[in-house]
Amino acid sequence: MKTFELNNGIAIPSPGLGTYRLGRNDAEVEHAVRSALDAGYRHIDTATLYGNEKPIGKALRESGIPRDELFVTTKLWGSDILQERITEAFEESMKKLDVGFVDLYLVHWPVKGKVVEAWHEMERIYATGAVRAIGVSNHLIHHLDELLDGADVVPAVNQVELHPYLVMQELQDFCRDKSIVVESWSPLGSSKIPLLTDPVLLKIASKKGKSTAQVILRWNLQKGLLPLPKSSHKDRQRENIELFDFSLTADEMSMIDMLDRNERTGVDPDEIEF
Ligand code: A2P
Repeated sequence: MKTFELNNGIAIPSPGLGTYRLGRNDAEVEHAVRSALDAGYRHIDTATLYGNEKPIGKALRESGIPRDELFVTTKLWGSDILQERITEAFEESMKKLDVGFVDLYLVHWPVKGKVVEAWHEMERIYATGAVRAIGVSNHLIHHLDELLDGADVVPAVNQVELHPYLVMQELQDFCRDKSIVVESWSPLGSSKIPLLTDPVLLKIASKKGKSTAQVILRWNLQKGLLPLPKSSHKDRQRENIELFDFSLTADEMSMIDMLDRNERTGVDPDEIEF
């Protein structure tokens, strides 16, 4: 595992485990988190929306791994912002996770007209010491501009859909300039698009003796991104963190950059509704 330093000095392990639809029930989620921890993951990314904070918390507590070696992210859902129940939503997440504190708390999606107001509430939660860092997710440059205009604390992270078909280089550069770490959700493109069988990626993968998933995740690391691959299966979980015994050349990196087609598998952050 590699670690990044967030803009407040906190270390964050990379890659992290994405957990959206990690299992069909609590037992499957617990099982998948246990196998990820056995494989070496120490960073687990969840959200109120995923409905799995409870089994994730249980698997983490029962792992026996010291709390300070684990990194747990959860996220504030948009309807909790609209209903002005941010403190309550945070306390519910804390209770479900039951791991003492949250390492990183993110605004899950920008809520139109509430970007700055929601951020002030996040800053207030951060000031209580119950979370080690705060950040955002699915924020485009114009959302970040709006937020930063009224912010006292610069978000530590912006977690966005990001893969070789959706590179968003301008957003990456903007975040780097502001010391905001970019995390990639659905780094493998989800099952909705055939990214893992892309001919360019297959060619690079075969040359390296690696899988296309590993090539994509290595591309993330070399671009300074923090990928959050989701897998429920032990073998693929292992594969997705075995990224440190090879590297991509500058040519290979730019061949992957050029696959960009601005193709989303998820909602456009300007069109999300709650
Ligand atoms: P699985 O959990 O069965 O391994 P998302 O982009 O929505 O986070 O989902 C990632 C998808 O990619 C999941 O369907 C996951 O399935 C699959 N996946 C994860 N790691 C790999 C891998 N190394 N090779 C192939 N498929 C993978």
